[in-house]
Order: sequence, then C-alpha cells, then structure tokens
Amino acid sequence: VGKEDAEYLVSLVRSVPGFPKEGIIFRDFMPVLADAKGLRILLNALEQALPVPPSEFDSIAGLESRGFLFGPAMAAHLGKGFIAVRKAGKLPPETIGESYDLEYGTASVEIETIAVSKGERVLIVDDLIATGGTAKAATDLIEKAGGTVVGFSFVMRLEGLDGLSKLGSTPSSSLISMP
Ligand code: PRP
Ligand code: ADE
Ligand code: MG
Repeated sequence: VGKEDAEYLVSLVRSVPGFPKEGIIFRDFMPVLADAKGLRILLNALEQALPVPPSEFDSIAGLESRGFLFGPAMAAHLGKGFIAVRKAGKLPPETIGESYDLEYGTASVEIETIAVSKGERVLIVDDLIATGGTAKAATDLIEKAGGTVVGFSFVMRLEGLDGLSKLGSTPSSSLISMP
C-alpha cells in the first residue's frame, strides 16, 4: 500500500479505548466503509497487497461478521466464489466447527460441510488480526473440510500480540498496523 493511502485509511479508523472491556482499544474500521474514497482505496489496496497471486487460490473465505463486509466484493472483483465462516449456531446441518480464544473472550466458528471442496485453495480475509485465534480456527476448519489455506488478507494488524505467529509460514498481508 502507498504511504498516502495507508495514512488515509489510518485516519478513518476509529479507536475506542475501553471497548468492549477495560484495557482494550477497539479499532473500528466501519468509517472506512462509510467513506466513498476510503472504501475504494480499501478494495484496491487489498487486491494490490494480496499475499499470493489470484491464480493460486480458488475462493475467498470471510470471517463473520467484519470479514463479510468486504470479502464478497473482493471475491466478485477477482472472479472467485465466497465462503462464509460463521459464528456457531447460525447454520443448518451439516456443519463442522472449531473453538478458539480471542482478545476478549472465547468463541466458535462453523461452516457447512458442503462449503469447501476437496483440494480447494482458499484465501482467508478479515478486518483485523489480534491474537490470531480467529484466523487460526478458520484455517483449521477449512482444512478439516478438505481445503487448503494458501494466504491471509487483513486490513489491520494489531502490534504486540504476535497474531501472525499462529499462522505458521502461510503468507499474509495487512494494509495497516496499529498499536
Ligand atoms: C474481531 C475481528 C477479528 C477478530 C480478531 O471479531 O473482527 O475477526 O476479532 O481477533 P483475534 O485475532 O484475537 O482472533 P469479533 O470476534 O470481535 O466479532 P465481529 O467480527 O463479529 O465483530
Ligand atoms: N478484535 C480483537 N481485538 C480487537 C480490537 N482491539 N479492536 C477491534 N477488533 C478486535
Ligand atoms: Mg471478526
């Protein structure tokens, strides 16, 4: 990402100290989506910064909820399909699930067993990587379903939590990093 674009994105992220609990600075990227120029920069930058070329993945998996807000737009523009990795309890049978810890609690993610084909190469997208727990759980889930996770695209990376180390040697990109 160019310096000017990165600075523009950073200027739009809203930081809320003490949400959802004390000690956390919540990094809210909704104002990026709300801003016409910000949204265009975001989608262009995500595509420019892809951790692997589009020929190396078959589909994009977005993580509920915030990964749903731009993953389908990216997928459509790249000519790929979109896989919804959902929070637990939302999908009809058959599903498979995976539990994980995040910065402020625990949760589980699920996909439908039919969502991923054998050998499907998947790029995971989400707004933010903090501890990496969500992205790791989604990876385990997709691989349990027979797919291979070939890369990760994040909008933001939280410094100091070392979330990327949970993702092993799989390539990743993030547009901006925040303390
Ligand atoms: C946030 C964020 C990432 C995740 C990152 O989602 O959107 O998905 O936390 O944290 P981690 O790297 O420590 O796992 P959250 O679960 O708060 O829910 P939301 O996307 O539905 O708002
Ligand atoms: N998910 C995990 N940590 C977060 C943070 N600090 N801000 C926004 N979303 C998050
Ligand atoms: Mg999320």
